Amino acid sequence: MIVLEAHALTKSFSGLQALKGVDLEVEEGKILGIIGANGAGKTTLFNCIMGAFPPTSGTVLLEGRDITGMPAHQLARLGMVRTFQLMRPFHTMTVLENVEVAAMSRGARGAAVRAEAVGSIERTGLSEWAGHQSGLLPAGMQKRLELARALALRPRILLLDEVLAGLVPSERAPVLDLLSSLRRDEGMTMVFVEHIMAAIRVLSDHVVMMDQGAVLASGDAQTVLSDPHVIEAYLGKELPHA
Ligand SMILES: Nc1ncnc2c1ncn2[C@@H]1O[C@H](COP(=O)(O)OP(=O)(O)OP(=O)(O)O)[C@@H](O)[C@H]1O
Ligand SMILES: [Mg+2]
Repeated sequence: MIVLEAHALTKSFSGLQALKGVDLEVEEGKILGIIGANGAGKTTLFNCIMGAFPPTSGTVLLEGRDITGMPAHQLARLGMVRTFQLMRPFHTMTVLENVEVAAMSRGARGAAVRAEAVGSIERTGLSEWAGHQSGLLPAGMQKRLELARALALRPRILLLDEVLAGLVPSERAPVLDLLSSLRRDEGMTMVFVEHIMAAIRVLSDHVVMMDQGAVLASGDAQTVLSDPHVIEAYLGKELPHA
């Protein structure tokens, strides 16, 4: 079953065409990896899908339902949640409080708030940081906090914008394992934007390469990453972090 579809999405910012007719399909329980050089339109695509702003034209469907322009809190209720490239925790709150806020925003009340938050914190390996002020966490842990907050919303489809950025290689493996386990154990559908090609190779069932607001290539990781047009367009001759 197709869970998420985008049809002919365009987005213009006063003259700049950031999306030029993007089509996308994500199957249930699968992971779609999105790659592309800086400024290709990857985050803009997420913003249009997640209702941060409406697309200039085109439609977004979630399980066949038109959700174009629907705000994120409503989408969360329908089971679709994102993480941000630039993290947005409440900096003066502790990790636990931050995740509790997320749990409450999806309707948890009373003892369930703490239980839900603790579960997400354990799942993301943040237990020993639970009492720390969020703004003081190391970058790697802030990324996990972003994930913990997203998981507390109990998504069925998760959109991840550069969740590995800023992590040193030794910090990446546990996050990759977590994402793999979410798919394997919970059948979670994911769309992830990533510059780390090793992660794209390991996680993606399907890869879409964006270039200047358009889809340049689409297929399995092996095919897309060896496509000469992709290599040419993506940072000249060599893929980053290959
Ligand atoms: N809110 C905005 N207002 C004006 N221009 C924007 C806005 N958001 C993005 N853009 C522009 O749209 C283009 C695509 O940006 P976007 O952030 O989607 O790229 P990206 O593929 O996510 O890049 P990166 O890999 O650096 O995160 C860029 O030229 C960017 O400057
Ligand atoms: Mg981006």
